[in-house]
Amino acid sequence: MKKLTIGAIKKRKEALPLVMITAYDAIFARLFSESADIILVGDSLNMSFGGNPDTLSVTMDQMLYHTNAVCKGAPDTFVIIDMPFGTYTDETSAFNNAMRVYRETPADAVKIEGGADKANIIRHLTANGIAVCGHIGLLPQAFRAEGGYKIKGKTEDEALSLICDAQAVEAAGAFCMVIEGVKADVATRVAQSVSIPVIGIGAGNGVDGQVLVFSDMLGFYEPFVPKFVKQYINGAKKVKEAVAAYTIEVQNREFPNENYIY
Ligand code: KIV
Repeated sequence: MKKLTIGAIKKRKEALPLVMITAYDAIFARLFSESADIILVGDSLNMSFGGNPDTLSVTMDQMLYHTNAVCKGAPDTFVIIDMPFGTYTDETSAFNNAMRVYRETPADAVKIEGGADKANIIRHLTANGIAVCGHIGLLPQAFRAEGGYKIKGKTEDEALSLICDAQAVEAAGAFCMVIEGVKADVATRVAQSVSIPVIGIGAGNGVDGQVLVFSDMLGFYEPFVPKFVKQYINGAKKVKEAVAAYTIEVQNREFPNENYIY
């Protein structure tokens, strides 16, 4: 597949839904690139790859390392990298860190969590040549400050505030945005209030695309499956069965047989 351009991504507004999936390494990125439009090197890697309880401790160096691996695996796919918590608190640090993304990786764009409160940062980056994907609604980087993951859009005030966030992100120059953990009817209203694609996760089907964390949708993570996640395969079961079969064959001296020796 040919890599999408920013213009082509914008044209998918209210058209064929955009397909985004996370990846953290070259092996999976290569596999996903056959179908997905966009690969997100999400800071969720700090949890599913790094085994940490939230996304907050991932560093810029770690994100750059994984992004380079993903870009090598999927050179023809549009890649977005999450800016880690604390790397875009002001315009100068945001620009310096985003510049590292463009200098040190071939990634196409950065993603920033926040709405109207982050509009000045998004504007500064887009005005200086950095492509930005916004992220509104439930913000995983606010996990500790908010005392958990809180679904948004439960009241009319919250709905209006989300619309305000989306419009501020668009006006600041973002080319698309993720909307996470928002009541489906409200997410639909948010998507209809802007002219750039709004890509949902836990936000229903009235938006312009979907994103899922790959380890969730492939069923690798067993302890907790969020309500919005559809597991397309039971990856954990398949991996455990394969490794158990390998273990038995090694212990019984059935592997390697004559087919697997020099
Ligand atoms: O880090 C991530 O994987 C994300 C998705 C949940 C959108 O930001």
